[in-house]
Amino acid sequence: MKDSAQGYNYEVVKYFTVMSCIYLVLGTGIGVFIASQLAWPDLNFDIPYITFGRLRPLHTNTVVYGFGGTVLLATAYYVVQRTSSVRLWSDKLAWYTFWGWNLYMIGAFITLPLGLTQGKEYHELEWPLDILLTTLWLAFLLNFTMTIANRKVSHIYVANWFFMSLLIMFTYLHVVNGLVIPISLWKSYSIFAGVQDAMIQWWWGHNAVGFYLTAGFLGIMYYFVPKQANRPIYSYRLSVIHFWAIIFGYVWLGAHHLQYTALPDWTGSLGAAISLAMIIPSWGGAINGMFTLSGAWHKLRTDYILRFLIVALAFYAMVTFEGPVMSAKTVNALSHYTDWTIGHVHAGALGWVAMISIGAIYHMVERMWNTQMASIKLVNLHFWMATVGTALYITAMWIAGIMQGLMWRAYDEYGNLSYTFVESVAQMHPYYVMRTVGGFIFFCGAVLMLFNVINTIRQATADNPQVATAKPHAQHS
Ligand code: HEM
Ligand code: HEM
Repeated sequence: MKDSAQGYNYEVVKYFTVMSCIYLVLGTGIGVFIASQLAWPDLNFDIPYITFGRLRPLHTNTVVYGFGGTVLLATAYYVVQRTSSVRLWSDKLAWYTFWGWNLYMIGAFITLPLGLTQGKEYHELEWPLDILLTTLWLAFLLNFTMTIANRKVSHIYVANWFFMSLLIMFTYLHVVNGLVIPISLWKSYSIFAGVQDAMIQWWWGHNAVGFYLTAGFLGIMYYFVPKQANRPIYSYRLSVIHFWAIIFGYVWLGAHHLQYTALPDWTGSLGAAISLAMIIPSWGGAINGMFTLSGAWHKLRTDYILRFLIVALAFYAMVTFEGPVMSAKTVNALSHYTDWTIGHVHAGALGWVAMISIGAIYHMVERMWNTQMASIKLVNLHFWMATVGTALYITAMWIAGIMQGLMWRAYDEYGNLSYTFVESVAQMHPYYVMRTVGGFIFFCGAVLMLFNVINTIRQATADNPQVATAKPHAQHS
């Protein structure tokens, strides 16, 4: 795979890459603030725009769409060009996704604090912004597919399969879950109601996890781990098998979010059974990534970027073991509604999604600006801050979640509940403080990354003004 003669479009990738660092700082910053509000409720200040209820969806939208989305766009555009040996099919569409994505996020920053929401998790923004996002997904899908169609190599590298599955499924699910009847510019009602609404919401919600937070980031893993380790992927055959197993399996899992509700019981059992089976394909990916390093584990001692990628895989393996366990009805009876779920979410979000993204961002910055990070010490420090921050966050939530679950189901000898709900809330305080501290450490690491990335770009551009242009440099692909 060689750089194509006419040059890749790195310019748009560069913009997305820098924005992803900015969104990580913003998203984790809001995360730390809402975590503090849970520990010290006075921080709501009785100001409606900044109450926990309004900032929580702003946090999820900023980290999932702002940060996760810009990382996915940056990496997908980067990977598809390099592995297809061809420039992006349309520069205009690529720039449309860049400006549109940021406009969408500005929309989130204005409407969510104002309380304008569809009330559907991970699908909060009202219908005008929803339509904007649909056009962005379509533009992304079209540009990606056409770039693959124009490829100059015969095969389609496996990372692109994962990106493609994300693009097809996410666009489709986004449209179905977003079917609403608008009654004004900023208010609409879902066309689904009752139990069907819940089913559709969690069919969407879980596939947002399965195709966005998993398949998309596995696409990142399949390109950046072998590239950074400078070794071929451990088993191409395994990647194909676990790809199809993941794609087939994930669409059945939504009901595990709705155990013990008004849904027919068998749907929850089916969701749980397939969730348990998902350990196998998920671990297929984790093992494939990790074994890529067989015989070269020593690289972890010196390669400051590889560390992020491999630790991300360890978290991925852990989360995809924990998730299936939580799907089992007996375990879910304890874990549901508790902070255990929040711990699981952030083991995935910080440990897997953010770590693999951070590794990919450092890798792309070095390649696209043809340089080394301005401060390797800061990258190393960032690694430890991200790891320690994540560990503190999830440990706090595991303890909090299991305590909540046990307190809520404890009975005395007369059959009365042993604890009131508010007593369980009061017990959470130390763990909420611990989560805030862990989150703050993680956030400071993200600030260091932004600072280091900007410094690196400044220095590279000053040393060699040409790197600031869209022309690629002769590097290995
Ligand atoms: C085989 C893989 C996985 C399975 C079977 C699984 C299973 C589960 C289960 C059972 C819940 C709790 C549902 C509830 O009681 O409400 C959950 C929640 C969640 N999981 Fe996973 N999980 C998996 C992997 C992941 C990964 C890799 C991520 C990445 C970040 C992730 C993100 C989430 C999120 C965001 C939620 C919270 C959804 C919400 O209530 O808003 N999961 N998962
Ligand atoms: C400094 C780091 C972070 C902190 C302190 C933080 C804090 C929080 C807090 C306090 C909540 C609300 C929990 C509740 O309602 O009880 C939350 C929810 C959530 N966060 Fe974060 N967060 C951080 C980073 C991230 C990142 C990087 C992602 C994604 C890549 C993420 C994804 C989510 C999701 C999906 C939820 C909703 C979970 C659910 O509904 O079950 N967070 N976060």
